[in-house]
Amino acid sequence: MGFLQGKVLVTGGAGFVGSHLCAKLLEKGLDVICLDNLFTGRKENISSLLASPNFTFVQHDVCLPYNFKVDAIFNLACPASPLHYQYDPIFTMKTSFLGALHALELAKELHIPVLQASTSEIYGDPLIHPQKEDYWGNVNPIGIRSCYDEGKRAAETLFFDFHRKHGIPIKVARIFNTYGPRMLEKDGRVVSNFIVQALSKQPLTIYGDGSQTRSFCYVDDLVDGLIALMESDSTGPCNLGNPVEFTIKELAELVLEMTGSTSPLIYKDLPQDDPRQRKPDITFAKENLNWAAKVALRDGLKVAIEYFQGELKRHSLP
Ligand SMILES: NC(=O)c1ccc[n+]([C@@H]2O[C@H](COP(=O)([O-])OP(=O)(O)OC[C@H]3O[C@@H](n4cnc5c(N)ncnc54)[C@H](O)[C@@H]3O)[C@@H](O)[C@H]2O)c1
Repeated sequence: MGFLQGKVLVTGGAGFVGSHLCAKLLEKGLDVICLDNLFTGRKENISSLLASPNFTFVQHDVCLPYNFKVDAIFNLACPASPLHYQYDPIFTMKTSFLGALHALELAKELHIPVLQASTSEIYGDPLIHPQKEDYWGNVNPIGIRSCYDEGKRAAETLFFDFHRKHGIPIKVARIFNTYGPRMLEKDGRVVSNFIVQALSKQPLTIYGDGSQTRSFCYVDDLVDGLIALMESDSTGPCNLGNPVEFTIKELAELVLEMTGSTSPLIYKDLPQDDPRQRKPDITFAKENLNWAAKVALRDGLKVAIEYFQGELKRHSLP
């Protein structure tokens, strides 16, 4: 336990989760290299970190190999919202697989731990509920979400094969819906969508009848979980998410209440392969990492709403 030290590489470090992770690692006294091709990440996400002598930003695509002398790798590089990962599905699949391969090859060369940001999407449209790590999932291999779902599944396979064949200390985190400041305003993820629509006095778009459920994890909780997993002896896979479940309609109503917005709800068809239910069983994380999400949805939403209020003012969006 607690071997995280020295210099750490974070791929995808200029993205939503990555930028919070980089900040937390710096706070813990580590040196951080943030590697990102800025596909969905932004320099402004890490602008406050760039002044630190312990922080280095490298613009690079993980589909190409890289080499740094580091003590651990967090592999987060990959577009995460359906809008972005479906924009160029072949690039998404390549990023997922080649990104994992290049992280693992460096970890093998240096004999260092490497963590993969996997996803609850590997469970697909789950037939059991809540999802436990030993569930193999129900995934469409040829649909429009498959570039992401199957890309992440292949990455997990590669991680476990490198572990079995080369003894590399791997860590596979299965991340469930996470939200917070620095999500992109228009990336189509439900929390940012609802907040931005409510603040801009636009109708809140509900896909389906709104009875499908999700669980929402605040980004600080997730970052603590990723670091705890990296510092543990466990390979995972390990679910990281907030197990408190809400329907999409409940989320929309809470956002309306908290923003004081009078926007109406409008209903559109469910996208293909949209899962009906999503809720992590986090027993493994509790027992092995002593980790559980702490931030209640209302508290996390308050911070996220304040963030988007600032962003909308800054960009003078309607
Ligand atoms: N946020 C969530 O709810 C969630 C849920 C499950 C899994 N995850 C995983 O966590 C990781 C981070 O997600 P996020 O929400 O911060 O998304 P994000 O899109 O904000 O961040 C991804 C980052 O990776 C970078 N990137 C993409 N392709 C790259 C490439 N080929 N080379 C280098 N950099 C590249 C992007 O520019 C961006 O900075 C992703 O791997 C995602 O699959 C996130």
